[in-house]
Amino acid sequence: MNLQEVDVLYDPAELRDKIKELGKKITEDYSGKQLIVIGILKGAFIFMADLVREIDLPVELDFMDVSSYGASTMSSGEVKIIKDLDNSIQDKHVLIVEDIVDTGLTLKYIVAILKKRGPRSVKICCLLDKPSRRKADIRPDYYGYSIEDNFVVGCGLDYNEKYRNYPAVCILKPSVYRKQG
Ligand code: IMP
Ligand code: MG
Repeated sequence: MNLQEVDVLYDPAELRDKIKELGKKITEDYSGKQLIVIGILKGAFIFMADLVREIDLPVELDFMDVSSYGASTMSSGEVKIIKDLDNSIQDKHVLIVEDIVDTGLTLKYIVAILKKRGPRSVKICCLLDKPSRRKADIRPDYYGYSIEDNFVVGCGLDYNEKYRNYPAVCILKPSVYRKQG
């Protein structure tokens, strides 16, 4: 990690403990239920890999990739599906896994799409929650940490596709995005 560019917010050991806790809670809550965990690409992939290994249930895994329709319509939160699920979610309990909930607009749209497909339930689990920036009425059912309005990277989160592989959740120093535009 380049510590001239980032400040560590949560280190790998803290993250491991937190994700263990989340997995334990989810294991209890979904015991005896048919659970499908859906990761939103790409940001969720590292958190999801850690999380599902802490869920002691027979889970099904799937992924979805979405992109917003472009800067001008971003506030509408309307997204286009780049990669849809491989399998049906009919009659299953869906747990959507996201890296971070910011405005909540992306998840509001994804939840609406998935609810039309006949699942038994749809819940959200994110590693980070940034409630101060919320525009949509979306509240994660499970989250690791609630954070201030800082731009964070690492553990799947990127800035211009960089830093996803950093093992800690880090605050990106403003000097970096000032420099890169
Ligand atoms: P929103 O909740 O629809 O505003 O968008 C959430 C998405 O924006 C996340 O899945 C991330 O890809 C991205 N995002 C929001 N805040 C951050 C951040 O602090 N760092 C990196 N990506 C972020
Ligand atoms: Mg994302």
